[in-house]
Amino acid sequence: MFVCNCNGVRMRDMSAAVDHVAGCGAPTVAAVYAQCGVAPKCGRCKVDIQRMLDDAMRPAQAMAAE
Ligand code: FES
Repeated sequence: MFVCNCNGVRMRDMSAAVDHVAGCGAPTVAAVYAQCGVAPKCGRCKVDIQRMLDDAMRPAQAMAAE
């Protein structure tokens, strides 16, 4: 399954990039694209990538609040 059809980035590769970016303190969609070695084209995947980032950051945010 592709997350980014324009660049042919599959879910497993995008998930790895999201996990890496979420752990590096710069959790932006642009950083995820860069980690994948691609640039946004149509931009339709941005909302999905942001959702993945939000999910990846949630445990860290919950622990910080405790
Ligand atoms: S689907 Fe990712 S840039 Fe178009």
